Amino acid sequence: MSEQNAENTPYLRKIRSFVRREGRLTKGQAQALEKCWPTMGLEHGMGLLDFAKVFGNSNPVVLEIGFGMGKSLVEMAQAAPELNFIGIEVHKPGVGACLMAASEAGVTNLRVFEHDAVEVLADNIPAASLARMQLFFPDPWHKKRHHKRRIVQLEFAESLRKKLAIGGVFHMATDWENYAEHMLEVMNAAPGYQNQSASNDYVPRPEHRPKTKFEARGERLGHGVWDLMFERVE
Ligand SMILES: C[S@@+](CC[C@H](N)C(=O)[O-])C[C@H]1O[C@@H](n2cnc3c(N)ncnc32)[C@H](O)[C@@H]1O
Repeated sequence: MSEQNAENTPYLRKIRSFVRREGRLTKGQAQALEKCWPTMGLEHGMGLLDFAKVFGNSNPVVLEIGFGMGKSLVEMAQAAPELNFIGIEVHKPGVGACLMAASEAGVTNLRVFEHDAVEVLADNIPAASLARMQLFFPDPWHKKRHHKRRIVQLEFAESLRKKLAIGGVFHMATDWENYAEHMLEVMNAAPGYQNQSASNDYVPRPEHRPKTKFEARGERLGHGVWDLMFERVE
């Protein structure tokens, strides 16, 4: 059955925010997966996690969805040893690249899932357990008929809020203005959050989010980047 037919069939319908690309692993990524997975890999089948056991300490936990190749996630983990980081990514070469970078940087406060973040959130992350949730440059799904695939939806915002501690923050960034507007609309409609923006829309990029090479180039070309930070208040 084609993907489109599967989406339209009531009992099979599951709209995902990604299309799995099989991409080959480089030798370095394969080696990093083999070497680091036993200590840094988390599996969806593990059920609800006990963060103190996973990290061996009770530092606050930051969760990042869709870390790509993991460059900025590893930088953040290295810069903040007083925090624990969990990254979720479906693209295996990205997971391999992230583990390679983490191992080169000697980072020990990072764990990763290779799985759909929506399922990990539902099945592995305890309620009210996260200090911060990060979603940087999610797939924008440009075409209107694909907007339903955007990961930021009311239902997602709601399931995520339950996993944030009160006072915890959901931090999003995008370079696609229409997606920024969509994020703002969804988050304004989602109960239990407070926008941290003084102007009730976007915030300046906070220090803890490293500027990517791609973003620096975009800025030189006059392209915008929008950061949104919403705090869980209820
Ligand atoms: C446009 S890329 C951005 C990557 C990275 N955050 C960056 O800024 O370079 C979006 C990433 O999100 C991942 N992704 C999309 N939906 C996901 C989901 N439901 N669970 C885990 N990863 C997801 C994709 O595989 C892709 O690597």
